[in-house]
Amino acid sequence: MDHSSLSLPLFLLVLVAVSAGAASGINQNRKLGKSRPRRDLLDNGLGRTPQMGWNNYNHFPGKLNEKLIGQTANAMVSTGLAALGYEYINLDDCWAELNRDSQGNLVPNATIFPSGMKALAGYIHSKGLKIGIYGDAGTLTCARTMPGSLGYEEQDANTFASWGIDYLKYDNCHNNGTSPQERYTKMSKALLATGRPIFFSLCEWGQAYPATWAGSVGNSWRTTGDIKDNWGSMISKADQNDAWASYAGPGGWNDPDMLEVGNGNMSTEDYRCHFSLWSLAKAPLILGCDIRSMDNDTFELVSNKEVIAVNQDELGIQGKKVKKTGDLEVWSGPLSGNRVAVVLMNRGLSTANVTAEWSDIGLNSSVIFDARDLWEHSTTTSVQNQLDATLDSHACKMYVLTPH
Ligand code: GLA
Repeated sequence: MDHSSLSLPLFLLVLVAVSAGAASGINQNRKLGKSRPRRDLLDNGLGRTPQMGWNNYNHFPGKLNEKLIGQTANAMVSTGLAALGYEYINLDDCWAELNRDSQGNLVPNATIFPSGMKALAGYIHSKGLKIGIYGDAGTLTCARTMPGSLGYEEQDANTFASWGIDYLKYDNCHNNGTSPQERYTKMSKALLATGRPIFFSLCEWGQAYPATWAGSVGNSWRTTGDIKDNWGSMISKADQNDAWASYAGPGGWNDPDMLEVGNGNMSTEDYRCHFSLWSLAKAPLILGCDIRSMDNDTFELVSNKEVIAVNQDELGIQGKKVKKTGDLEVWSGPLSGNRVAVVLMNRGLSTANVTAEWSDIGLNSSVIFDARDLWEHSTTTSVQNQLDATLDSHACKMYVLTPH
């Protein structure tokens, strides 16, 4: 609007009217739990639901080779995880030679990828899966074993597209203090210009608040530093990510980092909370364990169709922490079909009762729901007023409520 063309009283009137309209809309949406900032989306058609797949970093940092990747792709299919939606097989740092070739191209490390990336991508595609690769928006990657793409954005995007790459995780090390918006936007445009749909996953660690600007740049953006395989790290990532909930939606997601489920340093109940929270928060479900040798508990967690369905719900609204009483928490968010997802969690060290009253999760107290327990696979019909559960230390319950 050109303010100079309005007289001051008229301008103020217009301003008041516009703000009042916007405010009432926002309030209405807040009641429904649907408040979202306006978003301009990256126009690559990807990430309509959070991405699902695997990445080597959490279990095999810096230890890539084509045998591991091929076997992981095989396991993704043979375990049935691919059929549940896990589709990306992603390579992290250390896949390339330290130096570019004489034409300035990135070169796969010949010792660990002797067949080259095009052949590897072909193999992964032949399994019905997609392949992701790693790059860095600076001069050198974080592990310092391969070049970054700063100043080579178009060339590297073209290289990735020519190999058949479907996904780029783009890290932020050795960036010389330059603007992340500029660096990430440059690669985003370069990827689009290749004409190949390449999922763009920003790994900027949340430093420049990417939730506020990355919706038009990428399909997901890290909101945190690196997760570690322990309860304190995992739960702190969930909390940090929660602050940005209103910015997530179809096409662009907050990323509290990849899953540690199955890596062995947390209990099954810790991992159940981890997977429940990531699913409720519409976080990327990127597995980080050795899926070639998962134990039954790990498989049971990551293959729970009903929990995955919450993550992949078409409404794409990130569930949030809605109640905290000391260590006892309720997380919740709306799903399609007037349903509601709820996680009850005990972060404390002793057994306790956790309650979510309908008013805590934004529901009218008179409405009666059927409550599906997603981990027990059982339904309680005609539930009124509240959900409650007695939970051991670090235990959680996850439900979907459907109007009765
Ligand atoms: C950074 C990223 C990690 C991982 C490593 C690889 O720390 O945040 O996710 O990619 O680099 O070196």
